[in-house]
Amino acid sequence: MADLESDAFVNRMLFTKTWELDLNAARRASRVSLAARLNSNGYPLPMNATANATANTPLLTIRTLNENDIGAFRALRVHAAADTPFAIVSTPEEEARSTAEDIIARVRETDQQAMFGAFNGETLIGIAGWRREQRVKWAHKSLIWGVFVDPAYRRAGIARRLIETAIERAKESGVEQVQLSVCTQNSRAQTLYLSLGFVIYGREMRALKIGDEYFDEDLMVLMLD
Ligand SMILES: CC(C)(COP(=O)(O)OP(=O)(O)OC[C@H]1O[C@@H](n2cnc3c(N)ncnc32)[C@H](O)[C@@H]1OP(=O)(O)O)[C@@H](O)C(=O)NCCC(=O)NCCS
Repeated sequence: MADLESDAFVNRMLFTKTWELDLNAARRASRVSLAARLNSNGYPLPMNATANATANTPLLTIRTLNENDIGAFRALRVHAAADTPFAIVSTPEEEARSTAEDIIARVRETDQQAMFGAFNGETLIGIAGWRREQRVKWAHKSLIWGVFVDPAYRRAGIARRLIETAIERAKESGVEQVQLSVCTQNSRAQTLYLSLGFVIYGREMRALKIGDEYFDEDLMVLMLD
């Protein structure tokens, strides 16, 4: 464990991108207010553009997770598994049982993977994972997984920014495509992915079984080349 802790996240500065938004403006529902802080390409204005925010204004930051985020990551995954069971493969119990070593293995930033977190101040409120395939004949492919935003912060553009960050990371890595799967009943997430250019290339029937109910998943891909 000591070794793991000292080795963990040693590469965390390989890719860290921070965006800041006026989260209060977003939470006031003001998709208009949020939009007003974006430039014409839909990206947040530079930090100095938020200078008129009060000192107490919480800002949204997106960055890769590090060893200090293990507890918050576990808690958010437990929340996610309970909140949207068809979107998260794990059960809340499985997530709650995950050890620090498990979590480090899943989120540590390397040239093969990263876990992006959205923070309201110090509080983790959204996540999206990216992982590239390691086998030689699959190395052109990568995967986005574990996308979740705390329900209190939805419709503020947080998931879009998390996914865009993961796609940028994928492009930097040199992979040629990003894949993901999404429950056919999850129209919110599907709409998001379609709007980012993902297309459906297949469907896995009965991808999940929760109790006695089966859930199909659409397989989506974004070609980067
Ligand atoms: C899906 C989810 C990640 C979206 O997070 P979010 O931060 O609210 O999403 P954003 O605000 O960035 O919205 C991005 C786009 O997604 C779509 N979208 C998000 N919520 C939506 C909703 N309630 N109804 C319709 N479309 C929605 C829209 O296209 C939206 O773009 P727009 O606001 O410009 O119209 C969030 O609802 C969530 O965590 N759901 C539970 C977990 C989950 O489904 N994860 C995905 C697993 S594949």
